[in-house]
Formats: sequence, structure tokens, C-alpha cells
Amino acid sequence: MAKFVKVGRLGDLAEGQAKVIQVNGQRIALFFVGGRYYALEAACPHEGGPLADGVIEGLQIICPWHGYDFHLKTGNCGLDPDLRALTYLVKVEDDDLLIEMA
Ligand code: FES
Repeated sequence: MAKFVKVGRLGDLAEGQAKVIQVNGQRIALFFVGGRYYALEAACPHEGGPLADGVIEGLQIICPWHGYDFHLKTGNCGLDPDLRALTYLVKVEDDDLLIEMA
């Protein structure tokens, strides 16, 4: 059953920032963009590049290794429709950031 795990607090990230967190043994890239939080698997599904180190363009994160773009909300890749990054639901409860883990 899915369950929400506390991963931080509001204000941990400034607008446009990202960081890698570890949740239940999984590395997740957490982004704060446009006043909302997004969470994707930290390793790029192409060849494992560090998505949290990429450039944010609108709601896309551009992987720093080969430039593939992934939508922060859906994980879909614009350059290669066969690629998709895993996404996680983030919710804010009181001042806590929670991520839904399967
Ligand atoms: S490893 Fe991310 S685009 Fe290649």
C-alpha cells in the first residue's frame, strides 16, 4: 500500500532549486519550481545522469549528461518518447513535505 514519507520541510528548497534525497533506499530528485514541489527518480532513465544537477526550463528538467528533457510532473521525455523518468507524488501537510512511496 502506498504511504507518504516525510522528506523535509517547507522552505528547504528555494525557487528553482533541486536536491537529492534518500527515501526507503531510493534516491529521489526533489525540485521546487513555480511554487510547487516535484519528485523524480534521481538517476536519468537514459544513462543514469544526475537529474538534480540539470537545468530547469519551465517544467522540464534537462539532464546535464546528454540533454534529454523530462517533464517534472509526468516524467515524460520530449526528445525520446520511449524514455520516462519515474515520478513521485509530493504533498505538503502543515510545514512538512511528504512523498508517496509504493
Ligand atoms: S544520462 Fe541523462 S540524457 Fe543521457
